[in-house]
Amino acid sequence: MGLRLSGKGQQSHRMVIFLAIFILMMLFFLYGFNTGNDVLSTPFHVAPNHILKNTDLKKWAGKDGYVPFNGKKSMTLHCHNCALVTSSSHVLGSRAGEEIDRTECVIRMNDAPTLGYEADVGNRTSLRVVAHSSVFRVVRRPNEFLYLTDSNPVIIFWGPANKIGKDAKGTLYRLIQRVSMTYSNLSYFSIAPSKMRRFDGLFQGETGRDRQKSHSWLSTGWFTMVIAIEICDNIKVYGMVPPNHCGKKPISKKIPYHYYKPRGTDECQTYLQNESGRKGNHHRFITEKQVFARWAKLYNITFIHPKW
Ligand SMILES: *[C@@H]1O[C@H](CO)[C@@H](O)[C@H](O)[C@H]1NC(C)=O
Ligand SMILES: *[C@@H]1O[C@H](CO)[C@@H](O)[C@H](O)[C@H]1NC(C)=O
Ligand SMILES: *[C@@H]1O[C@H](CO)[C@@H](O)[C@H](O)[C@H]1NC(C)=O
Ligand SMILES: *[C@@H]1O[C@H](CO)[C@@H](O)[C@H](O)[C@H]1NC(C)=O
Repeated sequence: MGLRLSGKGQQSHRMVIFLAIFILMMLFFLYGFNTGNDVLSTPFHVAPNHILKNTDLKKWAGKDGYVPFNGKKSMTLHCHNCALVTSSSHVLGSRAGEEIDRTECVIRMNDAPTLGYEADVGNRTSLRVVAHSSVFRVVRRPNEFLYLTDSNPVIIFWGPANKIGKDAKGTLYRLIQRVSMTYSNLSYFSIAPSKMRRFDGLFQGETGRDRQKSHSWLSTGWFTMVIAIEICDNIKVYGMVPPNHCGKKPISKKIPYHYYKPRGTDECQTYLQNESGRKGNHHRFITEKQVFARWAKLYNITFIHPKW
């Protein structure tokens, strides 16, 4: 009897060990499986329990937000319909050029060219939003970027006040001012320092995260979208992927981040690495798109190529 009991005891003992090993292996498997993805799938997080602070972007519009580089002009651009053409390679092959050109106002970013890409991106520009870091690339090719045939084209520069601000009178400020006198059928503005701070506040209101403390840099796409909402009653966005695009499986095929840099880095790689970046400052391209998806419902925004 004693033997049988101990036999049983041994059996359950073995069972326990077997089970423990099994659980450990499962945990290891799951954990190992997860870490493979972790870098990519646990990116920048919107703060937990964050309550959206709704900002009415239509009320943001205002002359005081934009400082003219010359004279006392004010930024009064208003359009019923806008085409916002992104710089993403998703525009390639869209053959949307003619449709874009038929739109009342065409909005572009940084040094995204039209020359050579007309069939997909069109050839008109009504508004260009340019980051301080892209100023040189834009002024280097004035015929492409500053000699426009649209009737009252506008160019808006965004950046820290110490770079493009009027009071700082830094090199960038003076350069833009000089260029604005030479190529004078465009109107040149910078985003006022007070409005730059509001852009940070907007990011915090939408994500619950302090932009600086969370090591985030706003993208030109963020500025451009907000400005487009201010000035357009309806917006069609060409070439912007939905927020979940890059996490999807099977992994989407590699395409260059910018349509005009065919050898540039992959778009999803750029988005995912920026999204999960901790040290240094990073763009939160995916988080920004989550916000855009919310705004789309409030402000007549539709996404084309890809459609969503
Ligand atoms: C570009 O501009 C020219 C002349 O202004 C026009 O004829 C042409 O259809 C435009 N659009 C595209 C997509 O090339
Ligand atoms: C822009 O300026 C150039 C030269 O200064 C001029 O030929 C052209 O017609 C102007 N375009 C518009 C739309 O005013
Ligand atoms: C959406 O579009 C309609 C029709 O163009 C316009 O009347 C309305 O004001 C727009 N809504 C917003 C929030 O811009
Ligand atoms: C973040 O995005 C920028 C483009 O705006 C790119 O130059 C940079 O390499 C990206 N960073 C990482 C870590 O991928």
